[in-house]
Amino acid sequence: MAKVHIKNENKTVEIPDGSNLVDLEGKSNVIFACKVGSCGACIATIVSGAENLEPPNETEKIYLDNFAPGENKRLLCQTIIKKGEVTIEY
Ligand code: FES
Repeated sequence: MAKVHIKNENKTVEIPDGSNLVDLEGKSNVIFACKVGSCGACIATIVSGAENLEPPNETEKIYLDNFAPGENKRLLCQTIIKKGEVTIEY
């Protein structure tokens, strides 16, 4: 199981290795809307553990390049955690 530490909620959620972070829905207060990488509702800062995430797909890359260039942001609905731990803040 992978661990997602949600800094601003002061909680940790465990999800299976290889999961999409959309699995945080209902286990956290992260807001998901479109779930296809277009609305930006689920944007979050990766505080640590970015190496445990798959790189952004094309859809996410386009969004981040346009709306959060150079920042350590990810769209959680498009982000896959390989394994291990990641800390996010939204
Ligand atoms: S829920 Fe819309 S971009 Fe993630």
